[in-house]
Amino acid sequence: MPDHTPYTGAGWISRPNPTLYSPENIRRYGDLIVGKSHKWAWKLDNTRLQDLYLSHVRDPHLEIGPADLHFLDRTPAPAMAHQWQVDVVDINTAPLDTAKEKLTGRAQVRTHEHDVLALPWPVKKHHFLSLAIGNVLHCLPGAGFTTKTAVIQGMAEALADDGVAWGYTLTGAQDPMTRTNLLARVLMWHYNKADNIFSNRGDRFTDLERELKMYFAAVEICPMGSAAVFVVGEPIR
Ligand SMILES: C[S@@+](CC[C@H](N)C(=O)[O-])C[C@H]1O[C@@H](n2cnc3c(N)ncnc32)[C@H](O)[C@@H]1O
Repeated sequence: MPDHTPYTGAGWISRPNPTLYSPENIRRYGDLIVGKSHKWAWKLDNTRLQDLYLSHVRDPHLEIGPADLHFLDRTPAPAMAHQWQVDVVDINTAPLDTAKEKLTGRAQVRTHEHDVLALPWPVKKHHFLSLAIGNVLHCLPGAGFTTKTAVIQGMAEALADDGVAWGYTLTGAQDPMTRTNLLARVLMWHYNKADNIFSNRGDRFTDLERELKMYFAAVEICPMGSAAVFVVGEPIR
């Protein structure tokens, strides 16, 4: 049995998608999504995404929505295995199981089965020196970042005063700040039409920037292909 925080069923806004995030699909995630989609559709530079982890991962670390834990798995531990504390939050169980498996022997891992849109998050407050949330916001239901702001509040609550959080999210195909090629537009159309895969039609770079600035005093944000990439710190209490 997985040892995730038990789910009480109360207050979730999003829904798990165990078919999409099945153990089999999680095994294919690195090759298909990080390898192919990032390169051909979203135009994400994996070296720069990996650099975010190499530059910022600390002890204790909070990983949100790991899928196959691609980038954290390729990041040297910042502490000895018996010291490095890593908490992992996800609404689906297969990513949590995968994260637990990959981090065992490298860190002390706690997994939490939870919807990031539901506050409070089941983790310590003002605690984490690093926090990553890559490719998660565009999966969450809601018409734009105003409706996803609970996640940014959750990040600010979890982060220590001197911690750093980073992430990236695909903005809507109509966002003038990011670029979508034909393949990206076709995939986004299908994923938004399908049930519970993407919900990013209304997501705009400038709205994300505004929401981040409501919760963090230090905000860096830039476009990368179809995504907005951000690094934030100094949570506003
Ligand atoms: C597209 S994958 C991102 C994987 C990885 N972080 C990356 O950088 O590519 C989305 C991840 O977010 C999780 N997720 C989706 N909706 C969620 C929610 N409402 N709450 C928590 N996790 C969620 C999925 O289970 C999956 O692990």
